[in-house]
Amino acid sequence: MTPSPRLRARGKVRDVYDAGEDRLLLVATDRISAFDVVLPDPIPDKGRVLTGLSSFWFDRTADLVPHHVVSTDPADFPAPFAGVPALTGRATLVRKAKVVPMECVARGYLSGSGWAQYRATGDVCGVPLPDGLVESDRLPEPIFTPTSKAGTGHDLPLAPEEAVDLVGKGLFERLKELTLGIYERLADTSAARGVILADTKLEFGFADGELVLIDEVGTPDSSRFWPADGYAPGRPQASFDKQFVRDWLDASGWDHEPPAPGLPAEVVLGTARRYVEAYERITGSPFDAYPGAASGDDDPALERLREEHG
Ligand SMILES: Nc1ncnc2c1ncn2[C@@H]1O[C@H](COP(=O)(O)OP(=O)(O)O)[C@@H](O)[C@H]1O
Ligand SMILES: [Mg+2]
Repeated sequence: MTPSPRLRARGKVRDVYDAGEDRLLLVATDRISAFDVVLPDPIPDKGRVLTGLSSFWFDRTADLVPHHVVSTDPADFPAPFAGVPALTGRATLVRKAKVVPMECVARGYLSGSGWAQYRATGDVCGVPLPDGLVESDRLPEPIFTPTSKAGTGHDLPLAPEEAVDLVGKGLFERLKELTLGIYERLADTSAARGVILADTKLEFGFADGELVLIDEVGTPDSSRFWPADGYAPGRPQASFDKQFVRDWLDASGWDHEPPAPGLPAEVVLGTARRYVEAYERITGSPFDAYPGAASGDDDPALERLREEHG
């Protein structure tokens, strides 16, 4: 395969193509990662769910911060991407940004790595919390708990001083305010649909000198969504995210080192069902009406694009 500069990066989930001077094409595949390892089986419809939910949230936060989306309509894509049917519903043309080297996390509830840190130290990323909280408890107020953006491997929690060292005081304060504001918007919108947003991860960048929201927003890959009706602190919650597949992987005895084991068909389908349910609950629209055709990561048209341009 002749290397071409067009496929700039193959992330765990997304293929990132150069699409002109100051544009990128982000293609959300059906790949799924767990414990930072890409699993061998794609999850049908997952790429379109991520793209649809991100678009939904970019629109609904545009009054708080500008975003990177130019278009999700393949008719607007430049060559060689224009009108490629397999890209419908799963690709986003965006403004190319200089990525801020920090993942901006907001937490309204105590779960996942936040719960693990609190149990060990009584705080999360250097933010002190009251004593006696239990797993999945609602926090007195949402907190900002950024992490490093590791190129490979696991992101690490940053104390506020470390985050300030990384990005500077002014930018730290701005990112904190934006992240908490966006979390509040997402959480309020979700709550109105009976869904708790426990936490969410955002990425920012600079495009033409302007601070913009980039990457994906409010998807089950970047956020913990819990059905509000079954919520009870003191234990892990049922969720619309990857927890289902993580639980199966843990029960399989896998040590989190690559390669990951293959997933049984019912786990693949159960995971796909949860992603689609998250889309439908949050947006209030049937996923059947969402553009594009269901396809796995092995879609021949996506594979051809990667081969011709990777
Ligand atoms: N507008 C943008 N400009 C530059 N890079 C971006 C933009 N939006 C997203 N990215 C980057 O594209 C990549 C998306 O691929 P993904 O599969 O999520 O990768 P990862 O394995 O790093 O999570 C991320 O590295 C993200 O930081
Ligand atoms: Mg990512």
